[in-house]
Order: sequence, then structure tokens, then C-alpha cells
Amino acid sequence: MDLYGRDLITTQEWEKWELEEALDLAARMKRDRFSLEFTHLLEHKTFIMFFYNPSVRTRISFEAAMTELGGHSQFMTPSAGRFKTSKTAGETVEDAAKVMARFAAGIGIRILEDKVPYYGAGTELLREYARWADVPILNMADDRFHPFQGLADVMGWAEWYGEGPGRPNYRALEGKKFVLTWAQGALARSWCSVQEALLIASRFGMHVTLARPDGYDLDPEVIEWTRRNCEENDTTFEVTNDPVAGLDGAHIVYARNWMSPNAYQDGEFKKQEEIEKAMKITGWTLDAEKMARTDNAIFTHPMPVDRGNEVTDEVASGPRSAIYDIAENRLHVQKAVMALTMGNL
Ligand code: CP
Repeated sequence: MDLYGRDLITTQEWEKWELEEALDLAARMKRDRFSLEFTHLLEHKTFIMFFYNPSVRTRISFEAAMTELGGHSQFMTPSAGRFKTSKTAGETVEDAAKVMARFAAGIGIRILEDKVPYYGAGTELLREYARWADVPILNMADDRFHPFQGLADVMGWAEWYGEGPGRPNYRALEGKKFVLTWAQGALARSWCSVQEALLIASRFGMHVTLARPDGYDLDPEVIEWTRRNCEENDTTFEVTNDPVAGLDGAHIVYARNWMSPNAYQDGEFKKQEEIEKAMKITGWTLDAEKMARTDNAIFTHPMPVDRGNEVTDEVASGPRSAIYDIAENRLHVQKAVMALTMGNL
């Protein structure tokens, strides 16, 4: 079975060998970025990037990815169309998806927590597009999942524990300790990146620790999948409300703020209330003292980093910070997945 025509909503829905195929191609593309082997794979093809929310990395990396594959990306926002919503008349998703698919070889969508009335509605919109469009729907981050971030993360971790940039060793991650820790922050962040990180870390054979204050649980279904991934790999999954103890012996530390499960009230995302609540919780900034408890861990974060709240400058810009390598990997994993799903490799 090949990957041509496949949607990517979350890495959890792809087989492990499918993820490995994409990651292997991404590494080859990173090593030989402008090889003629790759620069014509999507020649004359268009990718629609449909953004409900702002972005730096995702927009630029997808656009660059299409350029490097010989194709073209087209940027659009909801305000560029007349789409039906719960409050306004307009074009249905069925019509929009079917028409976009007549023009483009693939459609990427970003829709985050503040553009939906309840948690999960973003993923539901992507699945609705996937239902009607007969080209791949690629998740550029919704309110539950961020698959390309997860792929870039695991590639970066495997490079740091492997033979360096473009030479990841996924076997080297097996049995390593991955810690995802909630962090103080002034952004009330979505669950998509951290949930994808839990899924991909557990999928690739790491022991997983989730540290969060009481009241900051994540999606129970994602937690169950993480637990099951760990069981299948014979690794451990632990949850703690201690901001320090879980870091002991860690190899990879991911510190990020995220919203509480009570962020939605009366169909609205209460961002300011979430920020005020999070900023009252102290002791959850990742610093050098905490990192000293680890096994010389690398620091990982999907960016943008809320420096001074989530993590100190010393750690974010320190010698064990993998953040820029991982940001770069967004380009390579997206090129690989687009080539495989839209280019019939
Ligand atoms: N990590 C990430 O998706 O960054 P952007 O929000 O800038 O795209």
C-alpha cells in the first residue's frame, strides 16, 4: 500500500512503517535538499494553505516545501471566502472542499482553539473536509493534533541521539525517558503540539512522563492512546503533579504551557481567564537547576517559545537546545509527506 491520496490528521492514524517511510524520505531530503531527485516531484501542482489562525513556521515551511518540490502553494483565510458558519449563511464545507480539490493536489488547514466553539471542533472541521475532498487533507495544526510538529520533533530527537542533522537514529530513542511538562505562560496554548508529542514519543519506544499541575489534564482519548502505545512498546507512562521530580534521569524535556480543560464556556474560548489562571501558578518554569536533574537532556519545544515564562533563556538558547533543528525539520517532513501523498512516489 502506498501513501498517495492519504490524509494526515494525526500521526496516531498512520501505521508506524508509514511514519518511518516519511521520516526516511525527510532525512534524505535534508541531506540532499536541492537534488534533482526531489525538485520536480510536485511540478505544476498547487497546495492550498487554509489558515484560520496565524503562523510563522507552518506557513513559511509549507510554502518553502512546495517551492522546493517544484510546485506552488496558495495562501487563503476564511475572510477570503463566504463560508457558512453557525452564525452566518454561506458556502458549505462540502461545496468548498469539492471545488478546492478540483484546483489543488492537496489542502492544508490550520484551525486552533480560539476559532472554534468547543474543544474538538477544529479536528471535526478537518475531517469534514477530508470527507468531501478527494485530495489529501493535511493538518497544519488543529485544536487536538499537530502531526507535522510531531514528525519534526521525533526527527530532531533522533538526530540529537543519532549521528546529527539529516542522520537520525530512531532506534537510539528506544528506552529513553521523555518528559512533557506543563509550563507557566501568557499564551493559553492549544493542546495540539503537546498531545502530538506524547503520541509520537510513545510510538517510538520512549518512556513517557507527563508532569502538570492539578487541573491541567489533557484529552482523555490521547492519554489512553499514549498509555496503549507505551504498553505495546513495553515502556512506562507516568503522570505527576510535581514540577521537579519527574525530570530525574530524563533524556528529552519538553516544557510548554497549555490551557486547562475548562477553557470553553458558553461556546467561547476564555483566553484571558486562562492566562490569568496560569500566571498565578508558580514553580513551573523550566530552568538550568531543573535540567541539572536530567541525564544531560535535550530541550525541545515546537516554538514560538514564551521565554521567561515557559523556560529560561539559559535553557532555550543553551547547548542542549534542539529547538532550531526541530523547527527546520518542519520543512523536511512536510516535503516528504507532500511528495508521498500528493506526488505518487
Ligand atoms: N510550531 C508551529 O506550528 O509554529 P507556528 O504557529 O509559527 O506555525
